[in-house]
Amino acid sequence: FHKYRPYETVDLPDRTWPDVVLERAPIWCSTDLRDGNQALVNPMDSARKRRFFDLLLALGVKEIEVGFPSASKTDFDFTRSLVEEGLIPDDVTVAVLTQARPELIERTYEAIDGARRAIVHLYNSTSVTQRRVVFRLDRDGVTDLAVRGTALCKELAAATATEIVFQYSPESFHHTELDYALEVCEAVAAEWGPTPEQKMIVNLPTTVEQFPPNVYADRVEWFGRHFSHRDAAILSVHPHNDRGTAVATAELGLMAGAERVEGTLFGNGERTGNVDLVTIALNLFTQGVDPRLDLSRIDEAKAIVEECNELPVHPRHPYAGELVYTAFSGSHQDAIKKGMDAQERSGSEVWDVPYLAIDPKDVGRSYEAIIRVNSQSGKGGVAYLMESEHHLELPRGLQVDFARTVQQITDARGGELTADELMDAFRAHYLDHVRPYELL
Ligand code: KIV
Ligand code: ZN
Repeated sequence: FHKYRPYETVDLPDRTWPDVVLERAPIWCSTDLRDGNQALVNPMDSARKRRFFDLLLALGVKEIEVGFPSASKTDFDFTRSLVEEGLIPDDVTVAVLTQARPELIERTYEAIDGARRAIVHLYNSTSVTQRRVVFRLDRDGVTDLAVRGTALCKELAAATATEIVFQYSPESFHHTELDYALEVCEAVAAEWGPTPEQKMIVNLPTTVEQFPPNVYADRVEWFGRHFSHRDAAILSVHPHNDRGTAVATAELGLMAGAERVEGTLFGNGERTGNVDLVTIALNLFTQGVDPRLDLSRIDEAKAIVEECNELPVHPRHPYAGELVYTAFSGSHQDAIKKGMDAQERSGSEVWDVPYLAIDPKDVGRSYEAIIRVNSQSGKGGVAYLMESEHHLELPRGLQVDFARTVQQITDARGGELTADELMDAFRAHYLDHVRPYELL
């Protein structure tokens, strides 16, 4: 693996906000099998869930929300199969979501019965609109709902041999008055009684993200400063990508003091998706921070996710898309070739190649796809492919001339030339019509 430049090596202009840098990876919680799954056209059956679960284990995810067992028989059966077949490694904790209704909470505890450890994730919406329109309850009424749910979770936790980690989410935290979000979380925490040794998780979902990342981060910071159980709680962020800024929201939320992120691989999830854990992890990696996730075979992970979700990952998806290590333009191709040569010559550990944020090899991708030849390519790309694919080192004058020919072909027919087509063009242009004596 290459080293990447930490922030400190980048010149930053004068600014007024404090110099906050992410120095360690957060606790990752995958909600692919719950929030991701509930947004699929064709939700996963047990076999697909199992395949996804095994992938998450292989990547090193330690907290996995496996479903909403009281709402779905598939989720209930899947959770039972994990427990009964002993498929949950000792260092992994599964999470199960429940609403604050007694019969749903009871069914949730049935689903995890026999597990060594589990996160029981209780949620209810606290937003102004949902209080008025959905629950028709005032603040106290909604708090009461949450506290009664917590009390039952606590009672059932005391009666089971499973170690219960309690998680509470004020759903739509983003749309809840801050003082009320704090009030309801204080009431829930007072009921549960977390300690610094046995912390609860307080998860702050944006749910439908309608405000900028810095606004969310300010709210997370304020919450952390005022929450009286702060030392007994793990603060967690749960952004959705409605504004296309979920990654920024998560990163700023972490800078504002949160320690845990809930999201999905490649960002599947309700509407525009949950935050993409892969992008956050590789953003950390390229800033010199160990993400504690193994993304060294990103294409295999992507293929499994695409198969399980029955959804494609976008070809321009950060770090993982089919096209993200490909340069079409001639000047980019030229700079990449020079950068790679220089990198090889220097043997430096620090990745320093223009136009490539990351060494494709670090995520198991190859250099081969980087140079493609189309109407945007210059002599650099053409020369690179002729050399790497056909072992033909073209002199500079010939590179310029051949690149002009290639451009005429691609301008006329569109698309790109494969390495074989490039060779055919080279033959047709320089060799086929040449009589042997002309070569002398
Ligand atoms: O987005 C959300 O608010 C949720 C909660 C259930 C945590 O998924
Ligand atoms: Zn969500």
